Amino acid sequence: MPKVKFTPQNKEIQVETGTNLLKAADQAGLYIEGDCAGRGTCGKCRVRITGDERAEPTTAEKKHLSEKDLDNGWVLACQRTLDRDIVVEVPIQKDAHLRKTTLAGGVEELTAEPMVEKIAVKLDRPAVKDQRADLERLLDNLERPDLDIELRELAGLPALLRKNSFAVTAAITGSRIISVEAGDTTDQIYGVAFDIGTTTIMGSLLDLKTASVVAVAATTNPQNAYGADVISRITHASESRENLKQLQDKVIEAANMLIKDLLKQTRVARDRVYEVTAVGNTTMSHLFMGIDPTYLAPAPFVPAYRRALEVEAARLGLRINPAGRVTFLPNIAGYVGSDTVGVILATDMDRRKDNCAAIDIGTNGELVLAANGRLMACSTAAGPAFEGAQIKHGMRAAGGALESCDYIDGEFKMGTIDDLPACGICGSGLIDAAAALLDAGLIEPSGRFVNPEENPEKVPEQFRERLRPGRNGFEFVLVSAGDSANGDDIVLTQGDLRELQLAKGAIYAGLMILLKEAELSEDQLDCILLAGAFGNYVRKESALTIGLLPQLPPEKIIAVGNAAGDGSKLALASKTVRERAMALPDRVEHLELSTRSDFQDIFIDAMAFQKPKS
Ligand code: FES
Repeated sequence: MPKVKFTPQNKEIQVETGTNLLKAADQAGLYIEGDCAGRGTCGKCRVRITGDERAEPTTAEKKHLSEKDLDNGWVLACQRTLDRDIVVEVPIQKDAHLRKTTLAGGVEELTAEPMVEKIAVKLDRPAVKDQRADLERLLDNLERPDLDIELRELAGLPALLRKNSFAVTAAITGSRIISVEAGDTTDQIYGVAFDIGTTTIMGSLLDLKTASVVAVAATTNPQNAYGADVISRITHASESRENLKQLQDKVIEAANMLIKDLLKQTRVARDRVYEVTAVGNTTMSHLFMGIDPTYLAPAPFVPAYRRALEVEAARLGLRINPAGRVTFLPNIAGYVGSDTVGVILATDMDRRKDNCAAIDIGTNGELVLAANGRLMACSTAAGPAFEGAQIKHGMRAAGGALESCDYIDGEFKMGTIDDLPACGICGSGLIDAAAALLDAGLIEPSGRFVNPEENPEKVPEQFRERLRPGRNGFEFVLVSAGDSANGDDIVLTQGDLRELQLAKGAIYAGLMILLKEAELSEDQLDCILLAGAFGNYVRKESALTIGLLPQLPPEKIIAVGNAAGDGSKLALASKTVRERAMALPDRVEHLELSTRSDFQDIFIDAMAFQKPKS
């Protein structure tokens, strides 16, 4: 059985002969970038095999890697199977979720109204004249004879009472005692709020007595190994029950890792965490709960369920108090999940009086419109371009990603995350780069690069070499090989612009359909809220320049941070908010864009890099 050693992570694993290298990395707990679930089409899973003679490159490797890369040992992990011991260098994805993490805790006001109630009691000791059973004695003292108790807690009750001089605390949810603890622990009530993103999972530990966030942690969703988008994961899950279980195990494992991290940061005991809330898109909620998502993929995109699901932590394998409850907030439709419910809660969309749109841009784009007392939502197949997928040098928002681009005094000024040498371009950088190239007149409104041979007057001398023919049309060199992290030019291709146009056109058209349905024009909008990490980092001016958003004054466009995750925290902290969440699937009118005959025309208009006609 061959051994693989991954550096610089220093992880080693022994696998069956013939195991795919991407899968081996996954087994070793390493995440390797990739958008195509190992189909060899994205070219992102680059790793370097050191000290080994070169194997014949596959067609996919020849397509995505240069001669120089191949000579230096670079391969695509998904194209390699293992038949001998090797050492593999994995480029470090420096804290891909870091920017998202910093958004955590953005909720200003959480209301402390926990589902769990704790009561400390000091019981009378049994005597010949008082032979009440231990449980009876406890319930009498709590003045709640109707309460039920977890069998596990009852099993340990006699010893617990006698070891602690009959002074204990009962943790009660609804009509059930879920935990009996030694002494007075009434000041220790904790819960974890998760935001299960397709790309990133975030967890926040809340002190439910004070409704304060005491720790946050985030990690990459390990399901990424099965594809960057939800369709790849649905496809994998639908192939067999084992695959579905595999995807569920991955996400539960990641959630447990985050819980461990949160507890370590705060020294809170695991048993004092009684509740978990989670939000995510509808596919993520199905996979988290281990429910078959197959019929979400084909029309008519039917989920197995929409309502909130509540299960005991132990049944899911989540390592909090075993009798703790896990609640995945409700979904609205197949492609409008509980993450949108979270956005609505955090932005008060269900209670606002103004006309307001919220756009959550992630791997998909979900839109909500509150107008004239109505609440409407839709999702657009915006594609993952805003997360750097399907973009030649696209990457997630990690160290070294080009995140800003300005056209000033005839020059382009680029900025990277953490000021590291550039190694790719993330979503906000992509929008900025397109806006800057439009400003410089190097992109036509149709989205085509100006042809320097046909229109030399439009291409200033200093850009003649940077705007060059590529495989499919022209491409612009954003960062030259000498300045980039991996010694390759970082380019923006015609294909990248096309992906951006598709994504921004879909968002814009979705919003226009919602407005049309509400009989509102775009200038009747009082505000547009941009949710999600991306919404926080995208520059409004650039989003307006490329026509991603309607032409409102920039001050009406407001970034609201990770609103989905904030909604999860709000629902965890307060049972009233949770009740509000439960009512939303029936309250929100879902618009299915694929059935709208007017969508296509608006979408095609909206793809252009100019203010689209509405
Ligand atoms: S090319 Fe390997 S994961 Fe996409």
